[in-house]
Amino acid sequence: MPQRLAIVLPPNSDQCPDMTEQTLSLIPDFDLSARNTLALKARSRFGLVLDAPDQVPAAFALAEKRGLGLRILGGGSNVVLSPEFEGITALVAIKGRSIREETDEHVLVEAAAGENWNDLVAYTVKAGFGGIENLALIPGTVGAAPVQNIGAYGAEIADVFESLTAYDSATGEVVEFSRQDCGFAYRDSVFKQQAGRFVVLSLRLRLPKPWQPNLGFAGLSELAGRDDLTPGLVMDRVIALRQSKLPDWRVTPNAGSFFQNPVVAPSQVEPILAEFPNAPKYPQADGKLKLSAGWLIEQAGLKGFTLGPAGISERHALVVVNHGGASADDISALASHIKATIRARFGVELHQEPVLL
Ligand code: EPU
Repeated sequence: MPQRLAIVLPPNSDQCPDMTEQTLSLIPDFDLSARNTLALKARSRFGLVLDAPDQVPAAFALAEKRGLGLRILGGGSNVVLSPEFEGITALVAIKGRSIREETDEHVLVEAAAGENWNDLVAYTVKAGFGGIENLALIPGTVGAAPVQNIGAYGAEIADVFESLTAYDSATGEVVEFSRQDCGFAYRDSVFKQQAGRFVVLSLRLRLPKPWQPNLGFAGLSELAGRDDLTPGLVMDRVIALRQSKLPDWRVTPNAGSFFQNPVVAPSQVEPILAEFPNAPKYPQADGKLKLSAGWLIEQAGLKGFTLGPAGISERHALVVVNHGGASADDISALASHIKATIRARFGVELHQEPVLL
């Protein structure tokens, strides 16, 4: 169970009538088109920029007082935004990061939810500490990182997670989550399971010392054995790998992997292996097998496929892209087509990663 830290502000604004209006200024007709990496045209009736932790409960109180819905947005890199939202969209922009503690065994790093994730990676590496270099260049904010338990190149944030603080909108309390409280799994956590309830405020990572490079993943393994190996060298290789494989959302708007890699029973994989003995498959601890959604989509002939203004990247079949002017409906129509094709061709169900907001 997460630990209750303090009551910052009652969620019922009647108990604190003037606080919200004084500290928060609503932005009318808030344009979110440049605030989502799929570059979907999107507006919100009101916007808020939250740059201090106590503004989070104040935002909930304000929304309640006005009778409006409230949704929280970080970097906008894992969302499919609807064109219009009739409530308040609050951007978490709380800044701050520091090395809290360094011992012979570990380094504790703390960062506020509104920090950019990749900036945090670069900050720790520049300070000489390894542990999150495999997660370089993942778009989005620090606050969003634990929600989907971001992962890449054989690492995930759960590996180095120490704790986080979050505002619980159901109780009006600020709570501290240990790693066990978070229910981390592949691209999953309690924050994702109970979407909309918790707003992450700050994150603590425990980076183990001495640094142990994680080079098991194809593309990194050739670095093994180098005697000049540093976290910076691994980070640079990860950045180069991502840039060579994944389309840059600034050039070709996208939300990264659009589907999770499906984890299925061995019996489901048999017919696929009978046809493609070399199909990529990764055994899981529970005996199931993780397949590569990108591989399945490419084998189904959909790499580079377009449906209206939405399409599948020519570079990576797991990335859905906006070729210009796509709406949430265009993206969803393409996603449905991909899912139906993979179901019919391989009998495998794909699960969408970006959240519909
Ligand atoms: N593949 C194809 N065709 C493609 C793309 C990939 O056949 O068009 C094959 C590859 O050859 C490889 C396999 O699929 O055998 C896996 O591809 P890749 O190494 O690119 O990784 P992925 O499973 O597609 C996952 C994460 C990425 C992460 C990479 C690298 C998920 C949903 N995605 O992708 O995370 O960067 O591994 O570790 O787990 C993200 O979540 O947004 C994301 C980009």
